[in-house]
Amino acid sequence: MSDEGRRMARALRLHVEGLQGLGVTAVPRQPGDSGATDSKPERLGRLARAVEACRRCPLYRTRTHAVLSDGTPDAKLVFVGEAPGRDEDLRGVPFVGAAGQLLTKMIEAMGLRREQVYICNVLKDRPPGNRTPLPEEVEACRPFLDEQLAIVQPNIICVLGAVAARTLLGPHVSITKIRGQVCDYQGIPLVPTFHPAYLLRNPSVKRLAWADLKRVKQLLESA
Ligand code: URA
Repeated sequence: MSDEGRRMARALRLHVEGLQGLGVTAVPRQPGDSGATDSKPERLGRLARAVEACRRCPLYRTRTHAVLSDGTPDAKLVFVGEAPGRDEDLRGVPFVGAAGQLLTKMIEAMGLRREQVYICNVLKDRPPGNRTPLPEEVEACRPFLDEQLAIVQPNIICVLGAVAARTLLGPHVSITKIRGQVCDYQGIPLVPTFHPAYLLRNPSVKRLAWADLKRVKQLLESA
């Protein structure tokens, strides 16, 4: 099988597993037979309930809230982070702690508001002590991210940090090597940049992140 064939087979397998994870056991023959024509908020509402009920990894036992998203489902731009931290777990909203406040400033520096974009994470539950997500947690949660992207259908995706970059681009990706490039995720331009928490610890690389965000803005304007 060619590389492209393998990529498509993997994408199809992940999509089918995602649907199974969401409780789908049959696909309608005609659009309109089931939820195929439901609105984005309806589909995201169903997804939120599936995330609440999810027991595919042990993180549900230690979470306060599952954290699905913030922003609008009609967004042209989606940000994908790593996983909820303490503040996000307590409030049930992504990127509301110190890193989140920096992300909000970055969005505003692009001339946008948080409400105009869609913000989510690879994991929907907080890993204890904010440790890095385990590969099996990413694998278990992945169908939810795939479904979010399939529902929102953004024009541009901006991944924040190594975990999100590896999840969408492949396990061997190095964020420091690929940032500065525009990548492709299933036909959607994807811009990798540093995670805001990394920027807080390493302010000298903020100028590189700003260059990435300017690229995102250009892509948005030409989309
Ligand atoms: N870091 C993340 O990756 N996501 C959040 O929601 C908060 C901090």
